[in-house]
This record gives sequence, C-alpha cells and structure tokens, in this order.
Amino acid sequence: MSAPILAVIGGGQLARMMQEEASALGIHLRTLVETPDGSAAQVTVDAPVGGADDADAVRALVTGAAALTFEHEHQDSALLTQLQAEGVPVRPAPEALLLARDKLAMRRAVDAAGLPQPAWAEIAGNAQEMRAQIGAFAADHGWPVVLKTPRGGYDGHGVLMVDSATALDDGEAATWLEATAAARAGHATNGTGGGGSLGGGAVTSLLVEAAVPFTRELAVLLARRPSGQIAVWPVIESVQSDGICVETVAPAPGLDPAAARQAEHIGRTIAERADVTGVLAVELFAVEAPEDTRLYINELAMRPHNSGHWTQDGALTSQFAQHLRAVLDLPLGATTPTAPTTVMVNYLGGDSLPPADVLARALECEPRAHIHLYGKQWRPGRKLGHVNLTTSATDPAGIGAVRERARAVVAILRGEA
Ligand SMILES: Nc1ncnc2c1ncn2[C@@H]1O[C@H](COP(=O)(O)OP(=O)(O)O)[C@@H](O)[C@H]1O
Ligand SMILES: [Mg+2]
Repeated sequence: MSAPILAVIGGGQLARMMQEEASALGIHLRTLVETPDGSAAQVTVDAPVGGADDADAVRALVTGAAALTFEHEHQDSALLTQLQAEGVPVRPAPEALLLARDKLAMRRAVDAAGLPQPAWAEIAGNAQEMRAQIGAFAADHGWPVVLKTPRGGYDGHGVLMVDSATALDDGEAATWLEATAAARAGHATNGTGGGGSLGGGAVTSLLVEAAVPFTRELAVLLARRPSGQIAVWPVIESVQSDGICVETVAPAPGLDPAAARQAEHIGRTIAERADVTGVLAVELFAVEAPEDTRLYINELAMRPHNSGHWTQDGALTSQFAQHLRAVLDLPLGATTPTAPTTVMVNYLGGDSLPPADVLARALECEPRAHIHLYGKQWRPGRKLGHVNLTTSATDPAGIGAVRERARAVVAILRGEA
C-alpha cells in the first residue's frame, strides 16, 4: 500500500492538526506554507513555501497528489477552477468554497435554499448612497445593524456592529464606506479589480444584516465525501468574545431536540446543494424561547473549524481525521461522542510573554486536560492553542465547573496564574 499524497494550501494550526491525523492514517501531507518555520511546517516533512496565489507553487504542490484541499478560504478561485478543469480533484470545489469565502454569495445561496437567516442587503455605490441604503435597511429592521466586508474577514475582523446613522459618519464604519466606494469607482474605470486575486480581490460592496438578538450561538459540523456519504457531529454551543470563538460546549447543553434536528437538516441541505466535500461548519444564531427555538444561519466554513476542536478528544473521529477521509473519498468515521460533555477553551495570547514553566504547571494543574499547542510565537490575542476537557456532567453546574477547570489551565498557559 503506498501512501496517498494529499496537497493542502495553508500552514497554520489547522494544517498542523491535519498532519497529526495524517501520520496516524499513513497519509502523506504536502502542505504549501507561508513560512518555513510556521505552525504546520514544524511538523510536516513535505512543506514547500509559497503563497496560495502563486500558480507555479500550487501546480508543483498538486503534482502526484490524490486531491487538493485547504485550511483557509482565501484562495485564488481562478487558479482552482483551472486546476479542476485539468482534472485535479479540488475539494471542496471552487463553486462550493465561494460560499465560505464570500458572505454575499453565501446569503444569496441560503435564500435560494429557503433556509433561515438574518434579514440582509447588499450595499453599494458612493459613500453617501451607501449611508442612505443602510439607513433604509435600518428603518425596516431596526438599529443596530451589522455591517460586514463580504470577503477576507476572520475572527471578527470585517464585522462591525453599527448602533445608529451617526455612527456611519466616522470611525471604522466611515473608513469602510470610503474604501468600498473607492474600490468600486476604480473597478468601474479600469474594468478590473473584482476577480481573481487572493481573498477575492477588491471589495466593491458591503453586506448589512439585521442584528439577531440571539440567546446563544451554535454550530453544526459535518463531513461529506464526493460519493455523497455524510457524517454529522452533535450540535455544539460556541461562545464568542470580540468576534473570536473562545469556548465551546459539546453537545450544546439543554438544546431543544427539534432545534438540534433543524440544525442538522440545515447542515445537510447546504452540503448537498453546494456539493461540499470535506468538513463543513455552519455557524448559527439561536433565539430560544419557552415555546420554540429559532435558528438563523450566520456563516459557513469549509475546512476543520474552531467549533470542532472538541472532536479531537470528545468524539470517536476527530474533524481533522474526518476531513482527510472525506476529501480523499475514504469511508467516514463515527461521530459519536466519547463523553457526555466536552468543553473546549481557546488559549489566546495574554498581555505578556508567558514564563518558561507554564506547560509543566498547566499539565500538573489538570491531569485530565488535553492541551493542544500550535507552536506559534506569542502575541497578545493570537490563537496559540486550546484545551479540551471531557466530563460525565450534563447539568449546568457540573458543566460550569469543568469550564472553570479548563479556563484555569488556559490561565496558567497565558502566564496569569
Ligand atoms: N447578524 C448578526 N447579529 C448578531 N450578531 C452577529 C451578527 N453577525 C455577526 N455577529 C457576531 O459577530 C461574530 C462574528 O461574525 P461572523 O460573520 O461570524 O464573522 P467572522 O467571519 O469573523 O467569524 C458572530 O459570531 C456574532 O457573535
Ligand atoms: Mg464566524
């Protein structure tokens, strides 16, 4: 048996954690990395350096590979389409990946599928026209509204809560309006700028959404093979702070079973309609009332996702192993949880460089914790790792206590305890 080669674009922690599972399955990962000492390159033998938009580098990457996949959405779609036409199995395919790369394309596709989402509109024109369009949207749906750059955002970069019309006149909102208007004007005069380049090129319009008064955020994660097989993990709760996922609890405690079924239906419908291959994460807003729970689709990711890190230690098959299996069209693994509850707490860089002994102290503090470190340089707020902790508890107090334990481990890693 010779090891299949799987080409991956992107050298961050997601590719690093794919490598852990590739080793176990005897899959040869070949990862196109941004820097030779980055998170994935530290653990991947075959890690050529190059950009996602470097056609020569990507062509060399896929030579002899069974498939091409990604650890982020910011891909050169023209290049991917070209490779696909030449017979390279690009998974997910560029048409599907667009829905994770461009929030406007995603909103249109979700409407076409008849699935629930916040009210939204595309905003375009000069800055004054855009202000008027946002004002008209807010007149229909109320303030605050949420303004988003359709492409290139992550971890809350590219998302702005806008409280009133006057908040559009200065600060970040004003900067966005001016930049978008300028990009559109440039696009109109030189006829380029919209397509092709990384992250989708110039942003020439914005997305405005009604602010959903959610009771909590959820995510449904699944994997799909080219042959059509789908495997879904239980719906999880995710806690965001400043637009960054900081904690998850799996399964989402106390979730209305009808809502869990609807979330699964949403995930399956998107995966099948868009012909998604690999892992798909659907971020959801839940508005929970005693009589019913309403779900709204927030956004999609087509790769292993922060909301699925718990699967490494809390499910029979981790999302990283499942992604490799799915894109290589291998039979999928069981998504069954191995514990009643698994909590995940992200380790974000603290305010100062942590002392050298923090790993030893964190391991000692909670021997049951699974600590995952990404090999990244400390920087305040940067995602440097995460901690998974399983428990037999399913009640709020029991789960709360385990969350506190996991937070305590992270606090030590941050150098705060
Ligand atoms: N329409 C909305 N209503 C309420 N909160 C929102 C809305 N859109 C985004 N948010 C908040 O901002 C976070 C980040 O938005 P998201 O579109 O997921 O951006 P990113 O691509 O950075 O993850 C969400 O997880 C949620 O907490
Ligand atoms: Mg998000």
